[in-house]
Amino acid sequence: MQSANDFLRSQGAWLRHALRFLKHYILCHFQKNRWIPLDAPAISVENTSVCNSRCVFCPNGLMERPRQQMKMDVFTKAVDEAIQMGSTDIDLFVTIGDPLLDPHLLERGHYIRQFPQVRDVGFNTTLQWLHLFNLDEFFGSGFTWVHVSTVLCGRESYRNFFGVDKYDQMLANLVTLLEENNRRSKPINVEIGIKPTPERRDEILSHPDFKRVQTLTDQDLAAQVRREDFFVCDWGGSVQLPSYLHRMPLWPRRHRPCYRLFQGLMLFSNGKVGACACRDFEATSELILGSVEENSLAEMWHGKQLQQIRADWRTGKKIPDVCRKCRSYDPRAVIKEHCN
Ligand SMILES: C[S@@+](CC[C@H](N)C(=O)[O-])C[C@H]1O[C@@H](n2cnc3c(N)ncnc32)[C@H](O)[C@@H]1O
Ligand code: SF4
Ligand code: SF4
Repeated sequence: MQSANDFLRSQGAWLRHALRFLKHYILCHFQKNRWIPLDAPAISVENTSVCNSRCVFCPNGLMERPRQQMKMDVFTKAVDEAIQMGSTDIDLFVTIGDPLLDPHLLERGHYIRQFPQVRDVGFNTTLQWLHLFNLDEFFGSGFTWVHVSTVLCGRESYRNFFGVDKYDQMLANLVTLLEENNRRSKPINVEIGIKPTPERRDEILSHPDFKRVQTLTDQDLAAQVRREDFFVCDWGGSVQLPSYLHRMPLWPRRHRPCYRLFQGLMLFSNGKVGACACRDFEATSELILGSVEENSLAEMWHGKQLQQIRADWRTGKKIPDVCRKCRSYDPRAVIKEHCN
């Protein structure tokens, strides 16, 4: 049962979210070019939709679309087109999947980085499978950032959150990655994202594994644990969250399209292309614009369908179903520097 302390803390966190939302909502109202999509979209590539984990807040276990690697010819066609459009942000950002479970991962890193206009490329991962790769080849493949989703307070806590008994392997891989990266003067920006678990904060902060990892990174992990407010999204109501996690509020959004529709495209592992990388885990929503195999990225980005989606939202005529229920809705302007 929720204690009075937990209740007050969650109310305080809710208020902080509300104030941040309001700030973005008001500030971005005055943003110039508020409703102009980027000329060159950011591109998120789901190199694989395979993931062995079953995190408590993720619909991976519910997903019915095939778990597959993106075909190499589909990948290269999409990257070539993105380069032609002038895109500088091309990442292996998957909706569902773990990029390290893709045997072509390094090849894809090399392919993207051959184009000088792309200065950064990276991916989110549990790091459970880093040991499948040769480290020299991994460091040589051009990746500049890796975000590690993890828990650092023991095997049981990890298993409860990730649904798999892979703590020891993850920890060994994380220590290796950090040590090797430090030894090579940090060519990769390794960012650790500690997932919300029900353990007490002091229990997490005093865990020997947490302390060990903290010695290997400049990131302030303790601050991250202290900041954790347990608000997450529920993927449009698809995921039944455990009782200690709270659903992000469903903020009002009429006439205010989400900035993601002006920012970039999502390339799913089956070749489908969507207007948002965020919550369409089956890749079947109204935000699906076509497929890499049949359409060009330019025609999908600049085409009528996406223009209509943005315009209908702005005029109040229609908000896509997936967006109406989405707790990751973000009212910021595309040019975020002015609105953060
Ligand atoms: C969908 S995952 C894919 C990459 C990789 N499998 C991983 O977990 O890092 C991308 C990020 O979304 C986060 N995520 C998944 N479900 C979430 C939710 N309901 N609320 C907030 N973040 C979520 C994951 O923890 C991860 O950091
Ligand atoms: S959050 Fe990532 S690791 Fe967890 S189940 Fe989803 S895709 Fe897999
Ligand atoms: S509201 Fe949600 S699904 Fe819609 S574009 Fe924004 S993040 Fe994506």
